[in-house]
Amino acid sequence: MKKNVLITGATRGIGREAAKQLCAQGFTVFATGRDLRLLDVLKKETGCLGEICDLSDPAAVVALYEKAHSALGQIDVLINNAGFNPGKEPVTEVDVARLDASYAVNFRAPYLLCREALKEMSARKSGHILNVVSTIARTSAENYSTYCSLKYALHGFTLCLIKEARHSGVKVTGVYPGGTDTEFRDTDRPDYMRPESAAQMIVQCINSPDDVTVHELVYRPMVESNF
Ligand SMILES: NC(=O)c1ccc[n+]([C@@H]2O[C@H](COP(=O)([O-])OP(=O)(O)OC[C@H]3O[C@@H](n4cnc5c(N)ncnc54)[C@H](OP(=O)(O)O)[C@@H]3O)[C@@H](O)[C@H]2O)c1
Repeated sequence: MKKNVLITGATRGIGREAAKQLCAQGFTVFATGRDLRLLDVLKKETGCLGEICDLSDPAAVVALYEKAHSALGQIDVLINNAGFNPGKEPVTEVDVARLDASYAVNFRAPYLLCREALKEMSARKSGHILNVVSTIARTSAENYSTYCSLKYALHGFTLCLIKEARHSGVKVTGVYPGGTDTEFRDTDRPDYMRPESAAQMIVQCINSPDDVTVHELVYRPMVESNF
């Protein structure tokens, strides 16, 4: 039986493509982002459900889980995909508002959604949580400490969650895409992965056999050598 999926960051980029592929395969998808117009376009294109939500507000994050849960009846798969690039700047010039915003969206929101999902999934002893991290959390980069350190935090949290969730049969996957040609950065990168391709890897992971759990899914465009 096809599953019910809650996905964040579905209005653009990798999340939008993942939502489209999942709907095409018969999954029931509850999609979210901040841009109402783009969310409406996605809903019309795919027939998915969804609501806008600013993930920088922790109360809105918890409310989002509740809304998705009542719309879907049961959330089988949570994809914490939303994230944003606070840009590059040296540590000496880091702006506290940008640091806090990166913490809120790139770390706190997925953490809270995992907390809500795990309560419900562990009670029914099934479910799959995927946290979209980045290959940046396998390396480091000059002038990129804000984004890099919060993705490291999500990486560390995901490793802990894998261990906590396994006792109740809940699968947890850390997804580590490399460079993908989305609106995540100002410049086009045609040498990077297409968002459809990055999304396809996530969808394949969701379709893994029941007796397999993928802990880490690391993939890159051929041009990337940050390993
Ligand atoms: N592109 C890359 O090279 C790359 C590489 C490694 C990892 N990643 C990770 O992959 C994930 C998807 O990235 P992408 O490249 O697809 O980015 P993208 O094209 O910029 O899309 C980001 C998505 O996140 C949502 N989002 C951002 N801030 C939000 C907020 N405050 N509240 C709610 N939603 C918010 C956006 O929705 P709205 O615009 O509607 O708010 C949008 O749907 C991110 O976690 C990113 O860190 C990307």
